[in-house]
Amino acid sequence: MPATTVIDLTDVGLFATNRHHETFRHLRAHAPVYRNPLPDGTGFWALTRYDDVLAAYRDHETFSSAHGAILGGSFRAGGDTASGDMLVASDPPRHRMLRRAMHPPFSPGMVDRVTGQVRSLLREAVERIRREGGCDFALDFAPLLPVGALMALFGVGLDDARHIVSLTRRMVGYRDPALCEQTGDERIRLAHAQSEIFEYFADLLDERRDDPGRDDVIGMLLRAELNGQALDDAQILYNCMNIAVGGNETSSYTTCAGFLALLENPGEWQRLREDPALLPSALEEILRWSSTNAYVQRVAVRDTRVHGVEITGGDIVTLWNVSANRDGDQFTDPDRFDITRNPNRHLSFGSGLHRCIGAPAGNAELAEAFTALMGSGLEFRPAGNPIRLRSNFILGFTSLPVETVA
Ligand code: HEM
Repeated sequence: MPATTVIDLTDVGLFATNRHHETFRHLRAHAPVYRNPLPDGTGFWALTRYDDVLAAYRDHETFSSAHGAILGGSFRAGGDTASGDMLVASDPPRHRMLRRAMHPPFSPGMVDRVTGQVRSLLREAVERIRREGGCDFALDFAPLLPVGALMALFGVGLDDARHIVSLTRRMVGYRDPALCEQTGDERIRLAHAQSEIFEYFADLLDERRDDPGRDDVIGMLLRAELNGQALDDAQILYNCMNIAVGGNETSSYTTCAGFLALLENPGEWQRLREDPALLPSALEEILRWSSTNAYVQRVAVRDTRVHGVEITGGDIVTLWNVSANRDGDQFTDPDRFDITRNPNRHLSFGSGLHRCIGAPAGNAELAEAFTALMGSGLEFRPAGNPIRLRSNFILGFTSLPVETVA
């Protein structure tokens, strides 16, 4: 790729065709602090080297989260965001208080409930696959992870959990015609998808308000305090939404990418099945390999320099996990899928203050998925071309057909 090529990291086609790794290799080598131009004459910075991404994650005093993690993702029309009220879109000291309020839904006890619910759904799914001789893994298997998690976290039934997943899927896939009708302005489409999720949780909150003793996320947030005061409705709703959007697509798309990597690397799949004790390190490699949350957004709150490049206060800076996780200065042979990779300090859950609070739940869901697949005794092979999600924020699959081998 010529050094002068103009690269547009908002081009979802780049990610949907899996060409982004080559682009990031180029950026790490030639433009580690890249100014991505936007059609309206503005732009944003892209950090793509491991050390730079990690340093920016850790320097929350320079790089603020207050504008949310997704480019163009304000949570209300007109640029007024959930800033300071939603965990992922807050800075200290507010972030510290919100994070404390959000601990109960992520306790080990809740992770156990998530695990149990996911396990029972996957057991049924494996039996269906056995009977039917295959499935679309991206539709029939992987989404059961967030469905089970939502049932446990929010105390809702199967149909509601499926409905919430369909809403977050449409929001994350707002630029993908398979998931969201491509009419009108895309920012409005995104805002519309966000407000549908908000409305769902607003109805659930109304239903639950008279029963605040419940042992689920809404009950926990109704009882939580922020600076000695109860959370208001908007704060509860934004954080329900943060949990749903943070957890739904990430764990299921990571499972798809991991399963495909194992199918494409049958030697690694064989090793894992022969020695299930390798599962923890295999999951780390699956997380690195998939880098499902491709980037997070920050806004510089003061002038700073990275590799001599001037970043001005107010500039948007994106931290590309998907690139950092393939940086050859950090990972030996980074484009090789190696389930015994050690060390493997990937950035798939982020780092610093905002490091994923749902990581234990996410890890438990992934462990359930691959344990169920290994324990099924089924042999799988691809039954068609996988279709990648059209998004530059969440990397996933809208279709991954597989069949069992008799
Ligand atoms: C494989 C699965 C997952 C991946 C790859 C992932 C990725 C991430 C990343 C990169 C961040 C950092 C955002 C930032 O720095 O701006 C984050 C934060 C967060 N994640 Fe996850 N996540 C996963 C699973 C989950 C699950 C299962 C939940 C909830 C059930 C969840 C809820 C959250 C929340 C609430 C935050 C905000 C934390 C904060 O700002 O302090 N995530 N996640």
